[in-house]
Amino acid sequence: MKNILVTGGLGYIGSHTVVELYNKGYNPIVLDDKSNSEKSVIDSLKKLTKEDLIVLDVDIKNINSLRENLTKINIDGVIHFAAYKSVGESVNNPLKYYSNNITGIINILMIMQDLNINNFIFSSSCTVYGETNQVPIGEFHPVVEAMSPYGNTKQIGEEIIKDLVSSTDFKAYSLRYFNPIGAHGSGVIGELAYGVPNHLVPYLTQVANGTRGGLNVFGNDYNTIDGTCIRDYIHVVDLAKAHIYALDKLLISKEGRIYDVYNLGTGKGTSVLELISAFEKVNKIKIPYNIVERRSGDVEQAFADVTKANKELNWFAKLSIEDALKSAWKWQSYYDKKQKYK
Ligand code: UFG
Repeated sequence: MKNILVTGGLGYIGSHTVVELYNKGYNPIVLDDKSNSEKSVIDSLKKLTKEDLIVLDVDIKNINSLRENLTKINIDGVIHFAAYKSVGESVNNPLKYYSNNITGIINILMIMQDLNINNFIFSSSCTVYGETNQVPIGEFHPVVEAMSPYGNTKQIGEEIIKDLVSSTDFKAYSLRYFNPIGAHGSGVIGELAYGVPNHLVPYLTQVANGTRGGLNVFGNDYNTIDGTCIRDYIHVVDLAKAHIYALDKLLISKEGRIYDVYNLGTGKGTSVLELISAFEKVNKIKIPYNIVERRSGDVEQAFADVTKANKELNWFAKLSIEDALKSAWKWQSYYDKKQKYK
């Protein structure tokens, strides 16, 4: 059984990837300082995987603690999620983002070099393509000036890996996610939203549970079918599975040096109003909404060309938007119940 370290393994995409690793016969080892998570995720993960799941409470910025913990384990590969991810917060507090996200990737790569671990998967984002109206977005699309410090940390992260692979035997993929939504089918893990959610689906589920009065739809005067923005919403379980396909391919590869990037999305665009309507239909809950001003920084349309991941990783997104929205609501309901009886 191969040991795979998952940094940020208690986070949204990380936790779902831990489950899929386990389902595919890998032994996931979690490293997370709970800065954007909570202990209950460990309990849920243990239920979905195994009671003796290893969870290392380590701040990735602390290289000594990283070294101390990781030298004790034989690790075959690393999937690196641990990073901050709020675009708005990164604009207001860029140093927090550069410090955590850049120090984090450098530290984990340095320890991997020291311990001779050569397989690395980096959690990147479609944000590296910046503001573009060229859809679908393929990997050949230029990586242009980042729209936020958060986006810049993803671009810099990719550059660091590329430079490392040019200098030594090291194998890595950057996976560029479009818009992950939904939750595990069990409803016991999902996207935790502290405070007012920035992303559409966590906001929607908080309108559905009555925490928020209504959803603000940011603009309906875009040049799209109904005037609202188009995004490529991908079920988080499909996204998590893609990591396993990528890892399988890296681990069997005999080549010494590999670096490549893959878009992960469905290849289909959905408007904000279409998403609201799908949520209402599948969960039988009415969502009150208002059309408000455009949100600054939003692009009109962003959806992926996923041909490369389909062909080279043999991975396909299989779950629907409806599956995702049903599971998102199941997760929100589970979480609310748990908070009530806490
Ligand atoms: N939206 C609303 N109301 C809300 C929240 C969002 O109308 O309350 C709309 C947005 O305007 C956008 C769509 O819903 O049209 C999706 O917005 P999200 O905030 O959920 O997602 P983004 O597409 O803005 O964010 C994604 C990734 C980020 C990445 C960013 C930029 O999740 O990690 O794209 O590439 F940085």
